[in-house]
Amino acid sequence: MAAAPDPIAHMLAHRSVRRYRPDPVPDHVLHRVLEAGVRASSSGNMQAYSIVVTRDRALRERLHAPHMGQDMVLDAPVLLTFCADFHRMRRWLALSDAEDGFDDFFAFMVAAIDAVLVSQNAALAAEAEGLGICYLGSTLANCDEIGRILELPKSVVPVAGFVMGTPAEDPPLRDRLPLDGLVHFETYHDPDDDAIRATYRERETAGWARYMAMPELRERVEAAGVRNLAQIYTTVKYTRAGYARYAENVLGYLRAQGFLEGN
Ligand SMILES: Cc1cc2nc3c(=O)[nH]c(=O)nc-3n(C[C@H](O)[C@H](O)[C@H](O)COP(=O)(O)O)c2cc1C
Repeated sequence: MAAAPDPIAHMLAHRSVRRYRPDPVPDHVLHRVLEAGVRASSSGNMQAYSIVVTRDRALRERLHAPHMGQDMVLDAPVLLTFCADFHRMRRWLALSDAEDGFDDFFAFMVAAIDAVLVSQNAALAAEAEGLGICYLGSTLANCDEIGRILELPKSVVPVAGFVMGTPAEDPPLRDRLPLDGLVHFETYHDPDDDAIRATYRERETAGWARYMAMPELRERVEAAGVRNLAQIYTTVKYTRAGYARYAENVLGYLRAQGFLEGN
C-alpha cells in the first residue's frame, strides 16, 4: 500500500489489512511508529499506558488462541498490545512517598483512554510508513489470558492491539455511515425512525451482499435463519451470550489487576 501524500488523505485511505508478507518491520520504522504513538495527548501527561511489542514467533503462537485463532497474529511480523497501565506510576508514587488513588474504575478508564489514543496514533503512523494494520478486538475480550501470557503485573490491563506488517493484499475501502447520522450540532438530536432507517439504508444492502459473498458467514447466516443485516450483527456476530462472557473476562481481570479496589 503506497503511503498517501498528506496526513488527511492517508486517514481517508485507511483499510484494515488481514493478509501479510513475512518481511520484518525494520527497527527504525518501528521506532518511528512508537515515537508517533507516544506523542498522543495523555491525561495529565501521566502516560498511564504501556505498549508491548511482540515479534517472537513462539509468543505469537501462544497468543494465537486467545486472539480467537486469527491467523494474522502469526502471519504479520509484529503484534502491538496497548495496555492501560498505572503500575509504573504507582511504583513511582510509592518511591516518592506520594498518595496513590489509582486503584479504581475511574483510573482504569483514564489509562484505557490514554492507551487507545496511543494505539490510533501508532496505527496512523504505521500506515504513513506504508505498513498495514488490523486491530484485534480479542485483546480486550480475552485480556485476562493475554495479560498472563504477556506477564503483566498488577495495575496493567490490555485494552487494544493490532498486528502490523507489509500488506499482502489491497482491500477495498469499507463504507462508513453518513456523517449526518453520526454528528450532532450543539446538542444531541434524537433521530426519528425514518432518520435511523436512512442512516443504515446503504449499509443494509451492501453489508448483506458482502456477508453473503463470504461462504463461511453465509453458511452461519443461513443456519441461524436471519433475514437482515441487523440480525446478522446480534444473532451471528455479536451475541448477548458472547458479550456476557467477555464482560465477565474483563471485569474479572480488572478486579484481579487492582482496578476495582477503590470502588
Ligand atoms: C477495537 C477494534 C477491534 C477490532 N477487532 C478486529 C478483529 O478482531 N478482527 C478483525 O479482522 N478486524 C477487527 N477490527 C477491524 C474492523 O473490523 C474494521 O476496522 C472495520 O470493519 C472497518 O473496516 P476498515 O478498518 O477496513 O475501514 C477491529 C477494529 C477495532 C477498532
